[in-house]
Order: sequence, then structure tokens, then C-alpha cells
Amino acid sequence: MLDMVLGLPEQMAEAAARSRGVKLGRPVKRGPVMVAGMGGSAIGADLARGLFWDEVPVSITTLRDYRAPAALDRSGLFVAVSYSGNTEETVTAFRDAVRARSRVVCITSGGTLAAQAARHGIPVVPVPGGLPPRAAVGHLFVSLLVTLERLGFCRSYDRDLAEAVGLAAERRAAWHRRAARLAGRLLDRLPLVYSTSRLLDPVADRWRCQLNENAKVMCHTSYLPEHNHNEIVGMGAPGLLAERSVVVGLLDRDTNPRTALRWRHLLAVTRGGYRQALALESEGRFRLARLVSLLMLGDLVSCELARLRGVDPLPVNRIDELKRRMARSRRQA
Ligand code: F6R
Repeated sequence: MLDMVLGLPEQMAEAAARSRGVKLGRPVKRGPVMVAGMGGSAIGADLARGLFWDEVPVSITTLRDYRAPAALDRSGLFVAVSYSGNTEETVTAFRDAVRARSRVVCITSGGTLAAQAARHGIPVVPVPGGLPPRAAVGHLFVSLLVTLERLGFCRSYDRDLAEAVGLAAERRAAWHRRAARLAGRLLDRLPLVYSTSRLLDPVADRWRCQLNENAKVMCHTSYLPEHNHNEIVGMGAPGLLAERSVVVGLLDRDTNPRTALRWRHLLAVTRGGYRQALALESEGRFRLARLVSLLMLGDLVSCELARLRGVDPLPVNRIDELKRRMARSRRQA
């Protein structure tokens, strides 16, 4: 897992080149984008929404369920993302979108989704198989980004990608050392990962998912400034949490200065409600590199925390067991 995480820059560069070769058909008139996916396959859509937040006027909804909502808008684009191609929620939502005659694109390494897309003549952006889905984040996210560009939803992110890839390759060894130190702070603690801008919301969520799946621990996420209007009151209770929780603040140079001030006041106002607070600043010039810098750091922390806990980051036995049980009950139905 650590090797896969460290290989993120190469993965992103490869994904950018590969997804350009796919025939997608005519550009789409700019409407809303709905992306169906679960877990490691859904996060790419959240990352795109964060990236676009204050620069691309496209609304991206992530659908993490079986059925498309009533708001499914056929004037836009529906993207079904499933790394394995066999995630039942995503395949069911894909069928809904096809039935509704939406413009659909799939991003997958194969499975039922690829087979059904072929049957309906729907374009598939292929991603290479053989990885745990969460370790394919570079493939899945960049494939989506390039697809959105090629269908006319956003400008080219080539320049930004080049910076992100270069920065991650140059800084990964230092980020890895830092991650090992951070993991030491999080051992036997409950991480409370707080984002301070809409660019970093999906990064906080990625930290949670990676700490869950790689390090096999619980993690809580929250988002400023909203946090300051509710969660701030509950911090530190029940009492055993005060001793056990470590606040990890994700900060970016474009964090609204008022929100940055809130972050500092929040730590003072809730003192005693957490054990320790760590502030992590994104690195890089463009938004994409800044997002990638904190994402990769979080992925590395999850691997290092797994090491400290003596657990193998790769297997996700409970997810597999639940999928098996669900598949069995489908066959019986
Ligand atoms: C496993 C992982 C999971 C999967 C999810 C959906 O590494 O991250 O969250 O991504 O169970 O499966 P796929 O991605 O195959 O649609």
C-alpha cells in the first residue's frame, strides 16, 4: 500500500495520458454533473467539486446510493465510477441513468459496469485493474477531470497537473518522514480532521476513509466554518474523548482569513476538549497541487499508522464480507 501511495504522481501522469485516448463523443452542453460511486470510487468526484469550487461554474453532485434523486437532470452528464465495476449501488444507479436517457460515461476497470456500458454503446474510460480501489485515486480522479475537460465542462488542467505531479514526486520522501511523525501523534487517539475550505473538504474525507481502511481506526471529520456553529459545543464530551482526541486542521493559503481566525479562536475556546491540535498547511502554487499535497500526506499517515498498529493496510475484510453477504442474498432473491 505504501508503494502505491508513493506512486501517486506517476499514477496521475499516466491517467492523464491514457484518458485522452478514449472516444467520448460530442461535448455536452454545460449542465449539472452527477457522479455515482461508492468509497474509493466516489472520492474523485468530491475532489473535482473541491477543485472547481471557486473557478469552474459547474455543479457536481456525488451520488452514493442505489437510486438517482428526483433532481437528476438529463441536460447534464451522468458519470458512473466503480473501480471493480461490480459495486451494486453504482451499477443500479447507472441503469437508472440509462433508462432516463441521460448522457452517460463510465470510469471502471471492467466488471458488470463495463459489460453493460458496452451493451448500451456507452463510452468507458478504462483504468488499469489489480489495485485496491482506494489506491487507484490518481487514476479515478484524473480520468474524471480529463473527461470533464474533453466534454466541455472545464478548461484544461494540464498545467496544474504538471505542477501537482512534479511537487508530489519531489516532496514525497519528506512527506513520508512527516507522516511517520504524525502517525505517532495519532496512535491510540481519535483523529478529528477539520477542513477549513471547500477545496480541502474532500481531502478531510479522504483522510477519514484512508485511516478507516488502511490503519483500521475510527476517524471523525468536520468542516469550518460550519463546525463553529454546532460541533464546537460538543467537543470534549463524553469526557474520555477529551483525553483521546487529536484535532488535525487542514489549512490552505486560500482559506478565508476569517475562517483562519476562527480556527485559532476555536482551539482556544475548546481548550481541554481535545488532547492536542496539529495544523497542516497545503503546499504548492495551483489549487490542484495544494489539494494533492495534503491528500498524499494523509494517505502516507494512514500507512504509517497501520505500521505502528501492526496491521496490514491492504485487506479490508469487513467490506469484502459485507459485499459477499449482499451478493448471496441477491442470488437467493
Ligand atoms: C476499497 C475501497 C472501497 C471501494 C468501494 C466501492 O479499496 O476503497 O471503498 O472503493 O467498496 O468499490 P468499487 O470502487 O470497486 O466500486
